[in-house]
Amino acid sequence: MSVHTPEDARKVTTRRLCEMKQRGEKISMLTSYDYTMAEIVDKAGIDVILVGDSASNVVAGNVTTLPITLDQMIYHGKSVVRAVKRALVVVDMPFGSYQTSDVEAVQNAIKVMKITHADALKLEGGVEIIDAVKKILAAGIPIMGHLGLMPQSINKYGTYTVRAKDDEEAEKLIADAKLLEEAGCFALVLEKIPAKLAERVAKELTIPVIGIGAGGAVDGQVLVLHDMLGLTQGFTPRFLRRYADLNSVMTEAVQHYISDVKSCDFPNTQEQY
Ligand code: KIV
Repeated sequence: MSVHTPEDARKVTTRRLCEMKQRGEKISMLTSYDYTMAEIVDKAGIDVILVGDSASNVVAGNVTTLPITLDQMIYHGKSVVRAVKRALVVVDMPFGSYQTSDVEAVQNAIKVMKITHADALKLEGGVEIIDAVKKILAAGIPIMGHLGLMPQSINKYGTYTVRAKDDEEAEKLIADAKLLEEAGCFALVLEKIPAKLAERVAKELTIPVIGIGAGGAVDGQVLVLHDMLGLTQGFTPRFLRRYADLNSVMTEAVQHYISDVKSCDFPNTQEQY
């Protein structure tokens, strides 16, 4: 197993991500929602940390990302930013915080940036939200777009299956991707779309395209930390590679502790005052 250590200890910026795309260096991105995890992920050398609204699923136990609030995202964002020295920190704008009006979108975006001190925000959608995207960008806030499977729209789709398999949806996705780039987004996430389509988008855009379930011909990859560490169970999409089985490690540690407590093995004489 080859282990990556970043040669460049400088803080990752949106500009450096574009330079990485230009020189063909793949971008690594993972989610984090709290201080302890973010510190580990940052020290390991990740390029981008996403404070994803997937916190709604993996931290709060909701079925979808829809219930998480702006204040909850701010809480997670602040916790992560406190831990991070090198990675670019991107915070997801939650469902309902940017779709109602452009004014509200900008106010909410400014609130997230002011309180969390994050580096950028991520919004789901294309032409439908382009005015809000432009207004937030005009306020000087960098935006990462998100197209393909957009979990905040799950009630519209009714399924988490692969998106943009037909020509009409694929053409709309390409048009939306170009619109987001023209508006000034610094990067784009493509979730669960055919690899050939993602490859085409990455080739046609100059900004970095980061995939999750979008194949290997994009400029970087993102996974949900709890999934790739094997903490979550029962979620087994084809695109998910598990790098550890922390669920078993934790279960064994907790069971060991319980049996030590029950048998009076813990604490021993060296573990008391
Ligand atoms: O919220 C999240 O974790 C995400 C990733 C799946 C890209 O948006």
